[in-house]
Amino acid sequence: METIQQGHQDTMSELDVVITGGAVATIGGVIDCDVGIHNGSIAILARNLGAKGRQVIDASGKLVLPGGIDSHCHIAQLSSSGLETADDFESGTRSAAAGGNTCLIPFAAQHRGQTLRHTIDQYHARADGKAIIDYAFHLIISDATDEAIREELPALIEEGYTSFKIYMTYDLLKLNDREILNVLATARSHGAMVMVHAENHDVIGWLTERLLAAGHEAPKYHSAAHTEIAESEATHRAIALAEIVDLPILIVHVSAKEAINEIARARARGLKIFGETCPQYLFLTAKDLDRPGFEGAKFMCSPPPRDAENQRSVWRALETGVLEVFSSDHAPYRYAGTDGKAAAGPNAAFHKVANGVPGLETRLPLLFSEGVGKGRLSLESFVNLTATRASKLYGLYPRKGTIAVGADADIAIWDPDKTVTIRHELLHDNMDYTPYEGRTVTGWPILTLSRGEIVWDGEQVIGVPGRGAFLRCDRPGPAASRNSSVLERAISGA
Ligand code: URP
Ligand code: ZN
Ligand code: ZN
Repeated sequence: METIQQGHQDTMSELDVVITGGAVATIGGVIDCDVGIHNGSIAILARNLGAKGRQVIDASGKLVLPGGIDSHCHIAQLSSSGLETADDFESGTRSAAAGGNTCLIPFAAQHRGQTLRHTIDQYHARADGKAIIDYAFHLIISDATDEAIREELPALIEEGYTSFKIYMTYDLLKLNDREILNVLATARSHGAMVMVHAENHDVIGWLTERLLAAGHEAPKYHSAAHTEIAESEATHRAIALAEIVDLPILIVHVSAKEAINEIARARARGLKIFGETCPQYLFLTAKDLDRPGFEGAKFMCSPPPRDAENQRSVWRALETGVLEVFSSDHAPYRYAGTDGKAAAGPNAAFHKVANGVPGLETRLPLLFSEGVGKGRLSLESFVNLTATRASKLYGLYPRKGTIAVGADADIAIWDPDKTVTIRHELLHDNMDYTPYEGRTVTGWPILTLSRGEIVWDGEQVIGVPGRGAFLRCDRPGPAASRNSSVLERAISGA
């Protein structure tokens, strides 16, 4: 037997599962080999392992990829305006598993007046007993009190909550620049990753007020209010604040060319700035918000989908590595009923409509079909964008996000030729629509294994709620600062 990489010899005769005959992809390349799994971990990568496994999965002609890590999704989250997302940890992880994912990192969202500890406890209670695949938490910090930033945050980072999101917009979430500096300084001292929602709040507010005064209430005016300039200005400012503190940061859901240019320019100056984008910025445009009546609300998220030129810029940024993470920003608010998009009324003005689009289950097939299938992305890049990079940026690597001896056996087997026309009725979330209804893709995950157990068999999600485990994250290596801060230089006189 030709061994490509061999695990401990004792495991050779007692493999629980062997995946045979597939093309195994990691960021390092694509290799034809079998995957031997023991006790939920990858025990061996080698050829001709078939006879060793108690269960053998024939993946001939298929791709064997690390399960997706969706590192930006809103599950069982109460929005700042009091709306609960349609997906809880059961339906969210069910949908994610059917879409080839094995790990989610949703948010534990602090509301003003709450302690961070209370926030974390609340979200654990929401996830306990429900998740089908593994999960970690990012914190959302909306009340940057001294106690939260100086006392609670360091303790929580130590306990494995090593990333948090801050907002530059939304009335009840936004931090001012001084508060942002405080959060960044604590992240730097304690080795955490900060994710930034970069949009200029006052620009959006000013435009919104005037659009409404002119009688423009339809969903399409959401795009005008959330102009690209509000995004690029805030991206620039977030990067400047990070440079002052000397901290790598990650700009989430980047939608437009100028914001991408801000990130690229910062990198060219030697700063460590990471960027994330999402399917809505590749596959939707502002025209979708201009559908008749209220239907455009289905496509409203912030930042909003832009135009074809911006889509091209986002593709290029994925191809060239300026944007390194591709997540869904699944923020599920139903179209019908009174607890979703229409909570403020069936034809509510755009600024009263909940922001967010669903996408847990369609994220990977959309990128695979248009990215790998159309030759824009290599399989290695696809794996990096959808699993490995997030795992590194959020302190889960090498346990998650790769296929290697010792890693959790979190694997998605893909049929690269399977053609599917996306219909909401095929999906497993708790929503009542998908923004990608009717779009045909080629390539679909036909089996998902979480720690060696089949949770999605291509027809049904068979993973049992509660089997998904909470993951404590390490301090992410990429979050380490490299130089000195403006303050340190001033104090030392350098
Ligand atoms: O519109 C969006 N993206 N809603 C979800 C909340 C957020 O800012 O990520
Ligand atoms: Zn955001
Ligand atoms: Zn989000």
